[in-house]
Amino acid sequence: MILVLNGPNLGRLGTREPEIYGSTTYAELVALCQDVAPDVEVRQTDDEAVMIGWLHEAADAGSQVVLNPGAWGHYSYALRDAVSLVADVIEVHLSQTAAREPFRHHSVLSPVVRATITGLGVEGYLAAIRALSAPA
Ligand code: DQA
Repeated sequence: MILVLNGPNLGRLGTREPEIYGSTTYAELVALCQDVAPDVEVRQTDDEAVMIGWLHEAADAGSQVVLNPGAWGHYSYALRDAVSLVADVIEVHLSQTAAREPFRHHSVLSPVVRATITGLGVEGYLAAIRALSAPA
């Protein structure tokens, strides 16, 4: 099972700053992710406690995770500690965070994930799912 977990404000994809995040809606993102692999489940929450619960669930079930943490990735040590419990996580950001405001340049998650993909838009999610699905 691959969980694709999305943090705050990502449910508004399509209408949220499309010049930065693209015009693909959240519903379209879900469909595109599910097309890549049969065992993909896509979720979104604006509540950090819910996200931490999902990461605990992934740790207990041995699920792989594609995680777009949204702004939490820049500062949440609680999220980082939860990510550390999951064996195989790829962090994804739609935008090229390094080319944006300075507070977006740092990710507290990157040291505890397998890989970080930024700036490829929705393609970044699909590449992450393919990488997790590939035989080790
Ligand atoms: C984001 C980048 C973050 O800085 C921002 O807070 C988001 C989206 C991205 O996908 O590019 O919510 O994670």
